[in-house]
Amino acid sequence: MTATMHAAFAPAGEKLVLTEMPRTTPGPGEVQIEVAAAGLNRADIAQKAGAYPPPPGASPILGLEVSGIVSAVGPGTERYKVGDRVAALLAGGGYATHVCADEGSVLPVPSGFDLALACCFPEALFTVWANVFDRAGLKPGETFLCHGATSGIGVMALQMAKVWGAPKIFGTAGSEEKCALARELGATRAINYREEAFEEIVKAEGGADVTLDMVGGEYIQKNISAAKLDGRIINIAYQDGFAASVNFAPVLMKRLSLMATTLRARPVPEKRRIRDAVERDFWPHVLSGRIRPVLDGTFPLAEAEAALARMNHGGHSGKILLKP
Ligand SMILES: NC(=O)c1ccc[n+]([C@@H]2O[C@H](COP(=O)([O-])OP(=O)(O)OC[C@H]3O[C@@H](n4cnc5c(N)ncnc54)[C@H](OP(=O)(O)O)[C@@H]3O)[C@@H](O)[C@H]2O)c1
Repeated sequence: MTATMHAAFAPAGEKLVLTEMPRTTPGPGEVQIEVAAAGLNRADIAQKAGAYPPPPGASPILGLEVSGIVSAVGPGTERYKVGDRVAALLAGGGYATHVCADEGSVLPVPSGFDLALACCFPEALFTVWANVFDRAGLKPGETFLCHGATSGIGVMALQMAKVWGAPKIFGTAGSEEKCALARELGATRAINYREEAFEEIVKAEGGADVTLDMVGGEYIQKNISAAKLDGRIINIAYQDGFAASVNFAPVLMKRLSLMATTLRARPVPEKRRIRDAVERDFWPHVLSGRIRPVLDGTFPLAEAEAALARMNHGGHSGKILLKP
C-alpha cells in the first residue's frame, strides 16, 4: 500500500475528514513511521482554526507527535532501521497512518513498553525539558510552580520536577478531581485556582524558584508576586491574553527573569539537542515506570474531530490519543 490515510487539514471552521493521499517518502536523515498512535495537543485546535500555521516546510496535516514502527528510512539515516519501535516529535503530519520524522526527534521504544502509550511523551518531555530545565534552569532542591498541572504538558512537568529532586512542587488546576491527580503525580500542594489564590499560597510558603505558565493575562503579575528572589518565570502560552498591565517593580527588586519560548519552529539540530537531553535525563525514568503516561482517552483517527472537541471542552486530564 502506498497511500496514507490522514485526517485532512480542513479550512478554518470546517470538520476534519479522513482522506487518502500519496505516502511521503523519507528524506535524508528521516524515518517514515507507521503510526500506532498520534497525540493531540492544544496547538492543533489553534492550527485548525487557522490561528497557528505550520512552520515553512512542515506538513499542513495536524499532529505534533506519534508513536509507531519505522516503515522506511531515508538516505544517511544512522540510528534507526525498518521495524524499530519509536516515539517522535513532529512539526506536523501526525494525524495519519504514516508520517516522516527527522531521526534527531525520535526516541527508541523498547519491546515490552506499550507502543501506543509511548505517544503520551514526546511533545511534553521535549517542551518541559526545553523550558523548565534548559531555559529556566530548575535545579535539584528548588521550588517549582506548574500551572495547568493536569494538562498534557503539566502531567509530565510535575513528574519530571519530582524525579529531578524538587522538594516543593505547586500545581494549579481547575477542579478537585484534577487537584487529586496533580498530587498523585508529584504536586506537594495542589491549588484549585477557581477557589484559592495561588499567588498568596505560594508566597506564604516561601515562593517559587521556577514557574511554568501557559495562562498569561492576569497570571503575569501573579506569577511575579509568587516568585522568589532570582526566580525564573517561563511562558509556553498566553491562553488568557498576551497583553496585561504589569508593575515591574518586583521584577527589578527580586531580580526575576521572564521568558517565553516555542518548540515547533526550532531547527532540526536544536530539536536533536533537546532529544538527546530528554533521552539522557528523563527517558530512563519513563522506561522504568517512574514517570508514567497519563491517558485521558483514545479515539479512532476517523473521529479526530470528536477528539479535538473533547480537548476544546477542557474536561480532560493528560493525553488524548488517536489510533489509525
Ligand atoms: N510553547 C511551546 O513550545 C508549547 C509546547 C506545547 C504546549 N504549549 C502550550 O501549553 C499549553 C498546554 O498544552 P496541552 O496540549 O497540554 O493542552 P491541554 O491539555 O488542553 O491543557 C490546557 C491547560 O490550560 C489550563 N488553563 C486554561 N485556561 C486557564 C486559566 N484561565 N487558568 C488556569 N489554567 C488554565 C487548563 O487547566 P484546567 O483544565 O485545570 O482548567 C489545562 O490544564 C497550551 O496552551 C499549549 O498551546 C506550548
